[in-house]
Amino acid sequence: MNLKKRPRRLRAGAEIRRMVRENHVRVDDLIYPMFVMPGKGQKAEVASMPGVCQYSLDEFVRALSEVVELKIPAILLFGIPESKDALASGAYHEHGIVQEAVRLAKAHYPSLYVITDVCLCEYTDHGHCGIVRDGVILNDPTLDYLARTAVSHAAAGADMVAPSDMMDGRVGAIREALDEHGFEQVPIMAYAAKFASGFYGPFREAAGSAPQFGDRRTYQMDPPNGEEAMRETALDVEEGADLIIVKPALAYGDIIYRTKERFGLPVAAYNVSGEYAMVKAAAANGWIEEERVVMEALVGMKRAGADLLITYHALDAARWLNRG
Ligand code: PBG
Repeated sequence: MNLKKRPRRLRAGAEIRRMVRENHVRVDDLIYPMFVMPGKGQKAEVASMPGVCQYSLDEFVRALSEVVELKIPAILLFGIPESKDALASGAYHEHGIVQEAVRLAKAHYPSLYVITDVCLCEYTDHGHCGIVRDGVILNDPTLDYLARTAVSHAAAGADMVAPSDMMDGRVGAIREALDEHGFEQVPIMAYAAKFASGFYGPFREAAGSAPQFGDRRTYQMDPPNGEEAMRETALDVEEGADLIIVKPALAYGDIIYRTKERFGLPVAAYNVSGEYAMVKAAAANGWIEEERVVMEALVGMKRAGADLLITYHALDAARWLNRG
């Protein structure tokens, strides 16, 4: 064969493959989601997410030392409150579980970047992300509660807030409230394209946030819709989003790609709980090689255009990357 072009030349050995590699996962890309709960001396592994735990505050601080040691730059905080009510009062209480966790994290590790998830679903007794009246999840009345939540997180010392509720207009409402309270330097990482996904199942066990009636389809996006994701993201950008989250990640590579191309803002891919659970379950059965599959999935998100990776695999990934 008289072949001039032979792509295999650049795959012939480990060195040349390393030299022409186009994308890389770095420890600096990683954001580790963590769950905090009341109590003392508690570290409860989430059954459907092996390796992921709900921590009481003292255990949370202990766990942070590992995050910092591994040089993971950021965590994303979720709270499990003492009690829930219709108005999600635990979400914006000055001494709520997330607010206290933020204070502790910043006191012990000032250079760890602390991001908080801003939503009501972990704090409402009905488990929805907004205020409910007559079985309807109300949009506009919810905005004030979200804004108060974001301000309370910033007041506790959060470096960045990440609204995940999918109410219309919430990024603008949160931006305005943050600015009013002197937090104009706190960026908003908006879950802009967040789909109503079956992949969130294990998270709802971890955060105790499953809706008690109905589902989230009236506010989270319909999975088949890509154009709508662009319109939804454009609104968040207009309203002041500094970074964009696409969620879930694995089945949504096109959305990651289009978001990066169209808006040019930093994009975070959220490698969600169900995606994590599938890998862990298959690996535990010996059906796939965990490290290889995790790193392939993460670099795939980078190749699609993600700058940041929110992933429950962060500790393992950092260990593997630091090992070189
Ligand atoms: C809260 C929220 C959810 C997730 C992040 N923030 C749950 C949901 O929307 O039901 C899911 C994260 C995951 O599955 O890892 N609204």
